[in-house]
Amino acid sequence: MKKKIKIKSKVNSYEVNFNNNLAQSFADLNKEVIFVIDSKVYKIYLKKIIKNKKFIILSSNEKTKDFFNLKKIIDFFIKNVSKNTLVVAIGGGVIQDVASFLSSIFKRGIDWYFFPTTLISQGDSCIGGKTSINYNKLKNQLGNFYPPKRIVINSRFLKNISKKEIFSGFGEMGHYFFLSNNKDYEYYRKSLLKFSKNEKINLNEIIFRSLNIKKKYIEKDEFDQNIRLKLNYGHTFGHAIENLVTIPHGIAVAHGMNISNFVSYKLGYLKFNKFNIMEDTLKIILKRYPIRKINVKKFVEIMRKDKKSINKKIRVILSKGIGNMFVTKINNEKKFINILKEYFNRKY
Ligand SMILES: NC(=O)c1ccc[n+]([C@@H]2O[C@H](COP(=O)([O-])OP(=O)(O)OC[C@H]3O[C@@H](n4cnc5c(N)ncnc54)[C@H](O)[C@@H]3O)[C@@H](O)[C@H]2O)c1
Repeated sequence: MKKKIKIKSKVNSYEVNFNNNLAQSFADLNKEVIFVIDSKVYKIYLKKIIKNKKFIILSSNEKTKDFFNLKKIIDFFIKNVSKNTLVVAIGGGVIQDVASFLSSIFKRGIDWYFFPTTLISQGDSCIGGKTSINYNKLKNQLGNFYPPKRIVINSRFLKNISKKEIFSGFGEMGHYFFLSNNKDYEYYRKSLLKFSKNEKINLNEIIFRSLNIKKKYIEKDEFDQNIRLKLNYGHTFGHAIENLVTIPHGIAVAHGMNISNFVSYKLGYLKFNKFNIMEDTLKIILKRYPIRKINVKKFVEIMRKDKKSINKKIRVILSKGIGNMFVTKINNEKKFINILKEYFNRKY
């Protein structure tokens, strides 16, 4: 039987279907449809299938989801989209963010479907309903909650994804497995290790488990008021890295988790042996994709602009161990800066 996950939402409940038959997935799109498609996905998979349809092709990068670059896509919507049009987004997180944000505001909201095509979007961002647009290079400053009416996960899309992007997907999904419990964490660690040794792994199963962990949080706290904040584990640090270095999102998140664990250890929340065990797992990603020296002053300034900051006080998710993360404010910024300096000077 094909896998399915139902997500309860106050905006609109929706379903994730696992289906590798693209033609079948497109067959019941009988409404007026427009497609928003990632340029690489278009070339590799869709050129023939989508020929006679209305579509816009976009390169997936952080510039594409910057507020100042949305005009071109809004013009396309103005020309081709009515209140009854269904927007079908096919691509990774960038395509998702652009299509969801515009669907949410265009004519005060039109329906959209999502076919995620990267490991990050399949194993994480496709559920939860967040839309996120950059502003002047500042990540994800504009957005709202607008889940798609339907999500279809097709693992064939992952066939031509680079190893780096798969590691990035692992980095992003990692924060769910670290947040969950020892059993999920062990499963994740073993899968990541196998993948790093080029052994066969079942990505669909990892995606399914990752989404099911996320589901628990988003159904309890859809609008990020409470426990969902914990899902930002690794992200406040990760976003600051992304702002200073060109790096795939999930790899930045893996670095962010390690920094968060290091800060937790230095502030006395996390025992050194636990920090070490977690770092050993993350190292599978970090050693392959290290980051150059970071300017800590800039790093902290970027963190201050993060959405979670309150009255300019930085808020982060720290850890007491697997399955035990918590939200806290940084009260002693001087100490925090010194810890970060120590982190960026050490070797792993
Ligand atoms: N809204 C959310 O809930 C949410 C959550 C997590 C991340 N995000 C955002 O998602 C973005 C990252 O998304 P992403 O990692 O999915 O990647 P992406 O959309 O940035 O795409 C990464 C690269 O992979 C290519 N690509 C996409 N699908 C492919 C395929 N099937 N085969 C070959 N190449 C393919 C793209 O062209 C691009 O070059 C970030 O901007 C991040 O902020 C959003």
